[in-house]
Amino acid sequence: MTDRKKMTIPMLFKKVANNEPITWLTCYDYPTAYLQEQAGIDMILVGDSLGMTMLGYDTTLPVTMEDMIRHSQAVRRGSPNAFLVGDMPYMSYQPSIETAIRNAGRFMAESACDGIKLEGGVEMANRIKGIVDAGIPAIGHLGLTPQSVSALGGHRVQGKGAVQAKKIIDNAKILEENGAFAILLEMVPDRVCKIITERAENCIILSLGSGPSAHGQLLIYHDMFGLYPKFKPRMAKVFGNAGEVILNGLKQYAKEVTEKTFPQPENWFTMTDEEYDDLTKMLG
Ligand code: KIV
Repeated sequence: MTDRKKMTIPMLFKKVANNEPITWLTCYDYPTAYLQEQAGIDMILVGDSLGMTMLGYDTTLPVTMEDMIRHSQAVRRGSPNAFLVGDMPYMSYQPSIETAIRNAGRFMAESACDGIKLEGGVEMANRIKGIVDAGIPAIGHLGLTPQSVSALGGHRVQGKGAVQAKKIIDNAKILEENGAFAILLEMVPDRVCKIITERAENCIILSLGSGPSAHGQLLIYHDMFGLYPKFKPRMAKVFGNAGEVILNGLKQYAKEVTEKTFPQPENWFTMTDEEYDDLTKMLG
């Protein structure tokens, strides 16, 4: 492990005050969390995008609290020090304030998350307030909100027009006033993100495809490393093509087994001649 300090909300605000951008990535499993811990990533999101990246669904909607908790626990074991955010899955907070508080509490108690994230603006402000009043740090999520992708008409930029942009700006302020300590802006125009960031008083603004003005950046891990075959969103810079490396390795393995060049002596275990002789005697 590393000797890094556990990331806390005051430390995140200190980064903002020092004009140091915050790093945030999705993560869904132990080995990747281990690597992100070594890389010193500030925040980790166990996103319900795991429904697509890990479970192969077409949307995030079938993901359950049980799925989220199982993956969050694995991530926490791999990264004890990043600020771990559990993403509230579909219908774990929409039905009522009480449902929202209970499920946020489950995340904290069962996965050792440091906070939760939920999607929506003014209509979810009372859920944010209830969760924060229960002592749980909450992050809002505006712009493209994947759980409402059908209502939004697909994966498209949100707030390109002035009226919709004003609504997102108003929603950001409402979430902040209701206690969200941070807000993720997904696929919002850079100028709208800049206005929201400049107007934020006690709230950290994070961007996914919303430009450089935010206090920090989020990327989906699988998009960064060519690990999600179905599509590559424009905002996802590929930092390395691990998918290609793995595919080549798999083909090579199949070839070597087929051609009987794998395994080699260093890949198997032996027994002494003495033990072998005893064995053959025992077998008659
Ligand atoms: O589930 C997730 O990974 C998310 C991102 C798309 C922001 O919510």
